[in-house]
Amino acid sequence: MITEFDQILIGEKEIRSRVAELAARISEDYEGKDPLLVCVLKGAVFFMADLARQITVPCELDFMAVSSYGSSTDSSGVVRILKDLDANIEGRHVVIVEDIIDSGLTLSYLRKNLHARNPASVEVCSLLTKPSRRKVDFACKYTGFEVADEFVVGYGLDYQEKYRNLRFIAVLPEEGVE
Ligand code: PRP
Repeated sequence: MITEFDQILIGEKEIRSRVAELAARISEDYEGKDPLLVCVLKGAVFFMADLARQITVPCELDFMAVSSYGSSTDSSGVVRILKDLDANIEGRHVVIVEDIIDSGLTLSYLRKNLHARNPASVEVCSLLTKPSRRKVDFACKYTGFEVADEFVVGYGLDYQEKYRNLRFIAVLPEEGVE
């Protein structure tokens, strides 16, 4: 399956070094703050695992699952929480870890939702961003890579639940992949 992708957009080494840079920035910014990293399932799972292991300050991990109504490639902005946090985040420094910001609707909703729980702070760390697809203005403090408006898969990102386990990020060919 893996060899079927002839266009690797972001290779394994490039991902690893960018994740290390983001982790170094987070470690510096959260010195003495014991942040709570919130992984948004499922796409951010590998990013979260790699990022957390490169962060040098003590941190905790939690997970949320959300679902947007609408088609599989377009977010409608209505977000349903399928799995909520286990942790009480009041007074905590929260870092939401995402795989991709597309329209920005999911994260706008999530950030607002988490803010309402009175945390000390909420920031977002997203591996990818597609600025050309934005429907709402959304500022993300930590971003890995900007990508064009193409359907990308791998390193957590899926097409119909497949390709999440690729070690690199690739553009899904329009004719699909066997
Ligand atoms: C993707 C991604 C974000 C959201 C971004 O999730 O992980 O949560 O869409 O889109 P937006 O900026 O337009 O709101 P998806 O619903 O594909 O779920 P998954 O992470 O389980 O693949």
